[in-house]
Formats: sequence, C-alpha cells, structure tokens
Amino acid sequence: MPSVVITGAARGLGYGFMQYFSAQGWTVFGLVRRNKAETEAKVEKEGLKNVTIFEADVQDAPALQKAAEGVSKITGGKLDIMINNAASLAPNYRWENLDEIPTAVLEEELTDAYRVNVIGVIFGTNAFLPLIRAGSMKKVITLATGMADLDLTNELDVTSAAAYSISKTATNMVVAKYNASYGKSEGILFLALSPGMVDTGMNGDAETEQAQKGMQKMITSFAKYAPHFKGPITVEESISAMVDVITKATPESLGGGFVSHHGDKNWL
Ligand SMILES: NC(=O)c1ccc[n+]([C@@H]2O[C@H](COP(=O)([O-])OP(=O)(O)OC[C@H]3O[C@@H](n4cnc5c(N)ncnc54)[C@H](OP(=O)(O)O)[C@@H]3O)[C@@H](O)[C@H]2O)c1
Repeated sequence: MPSVVITGAARGLGYGFMQYFSAQGWTVFGLVRRNKAETEAKVEKEGLKNVTIFEADVQDAPALQKAAEGVSKITGGKLDIMINNAASLAPNYRWENLDEIPTAVLEEELTDAYRVNVIGVIFGTNAFLPLIRAGSMKKVITLATGMADLDLTNELDVTSAAAYSISKTATNMVVAKYNASYGKSEGILFLALSPGMVDTGMNGDAETEQAQKGMQKMITSFAKYAPHFKGPITVEESISAMVDVITKATPESLGGGFVSHHGDKNWL
C-alpha cells in the first residue's frame, strides 16, 4: 500500500488527511508538534488503521530527521506522498493593516509565521526528500492559501491576515524552488495547494468590533468575487477535492504551481 506523511496532523485538515488515507488502506504517518499521546488516543478511539504518530515541530530539524528515520524503518526507506500541512496562522492581528499593528508584535508575528510556514516547510521537505526519491508516486504537496495570491489581494483589496499571507507567499516560492531543482530532473511533483475556505476553526471568531467589520468586508468582497460561494466547506469536502487534484497532478502539468482545490486559481 502507498504511504503518506502529514505534518501538523493533530487536528483540522491534517487530521482529516490521516482519516482519509487511513480509510483508503494507506500506511499513514502523522507528525504532531505536541501531545503525541493525545493524538494516538484519538486515532485509537476512532479506529483509524495503519496510522503511526511521531512528535515533530516543523521548526525542529533534528526531530523531523528522527521522524523520517522512524518512517523509513517501517516503509523500507520509501515514501509516496508528503503533505506539508502544519502552519502558523499569526492569529493576533488578523484584521489590522500593517501600519496599525504594534511594531514589536508585528515583528514577532511575521517571524513566527516565517519560521513555521517557510523554514518549517523546507525542514520538513528536506527530512523526507530521500524517502520520496525512493517512493513510486514522488509527490510533495504543500498547503497554500488564496490569501497569497497577489492578483486576488489587489483586485479585492484583501487587507486581512497580513503576516500569514506574506509568509504563505514566500511558501509558494519554496515550492517553486524545489520544483526548479528536482521537478524535471527527478520527476518529483512539488505543488502548493490551497484547500479552499474550510471550516476548521482556523478562520476564527469575529469577536471584536474591528474583527466583525473586517469579516463583513471580506464576506462582501468574496460574494463579488465568487457569487457561488455559500460559506466555508467541510474538511471532508476539501480533502476529497484536494485528493482529486493531487492524484491528477504531474510535474509536467502542475510542477511548482500554486492552485486551489479546484485545480485552478478559483480560491473559493
Ligand atoms: N482552513 C482554511 O480555511 C484554510 C484556508 C487556506 C489554507 N489553509 C491551510 O491549510 C493548512 C491546515 O489548516 P487548518 O485549517 O487545518 O489549520 P488548523 O486547524 O489551525 O491546524 C493547524 C495544525 O498545524 C499544527 N502546527 C502549528 N504550528 C506547528 C509547528 N510549528 N509544527 C508542527 N505543527 C504545527 C497545529 O498544531 P496544534 O494542534 O498543536 O496547534 C495544528 O495541528 C495550513 O497550512 C493552512 O495554512 C487552511
């Protein structure tokens, strides 16, 4: 059976990927940054089969290396798909413009987002690349976001989630760089894939007046951009659509690309 590694697998889309691939009979490895025993207990309680959990914060290169060694022992040195899912959402100042965030917090949020969403993706990819090379599918998928689309940002004046969006834009270049290095030469697919707007709790509650105004502004522009959009989709809907894109994607068709769960630039 094919094998898959998923970072940030404790909840949200990461856990959803584990559920999906486990149900398909795959050999599944979930990486969590803390409380390994808690995720193991959940996996056990829900009856997920062929799932092994490793503890690895994506900022911790030695921990990722150790997890890769653990995976390698089980799979015989191979891995079919790696999913860089873990992300920092820089959650404290989601609605403010860049000049409205206190300088010290701005620096901290940008640094944290960069460490996890950019350096973490590189550390994770580097740790598992030797196994991917030896695998048969050879796919490295990195979770992306429409918030990192410059055209969308400019057309709709999307001001929210600045630190997150900036870091995820850099993540897209990470994916392109790996593709430039190994896409054509080794036939490995590197793809930045947005899951759509998904109900994982990630989008937060609009508790303050500024947050409510920001959310309202976002919903109004989304309605203009995508009249079909009825609200966030479920984890299951998103994963089913993403798996379709992952299955069809090849280094020739989408190598180094940045697409949504629809396989194009329609982010909702
Ligand atoms: N949901 C959406 O609407 C949406 C839209 C666009 C893109 N995305 C992308 O989809 C991916 C998953 O999003 P989600 O909604 O499932 O997010 P989520 O529910 O907030 O889950 C994020 C996961 O990442 C883990 N994580 C955070 N920092 C980490 C680190 N340093 N090392 C390892 N794991 C870490 C978290 O661990 P803990 O459980 O320990 O906190 C959590 O399990 C992200 O890359 C996100 O940017 C989501």
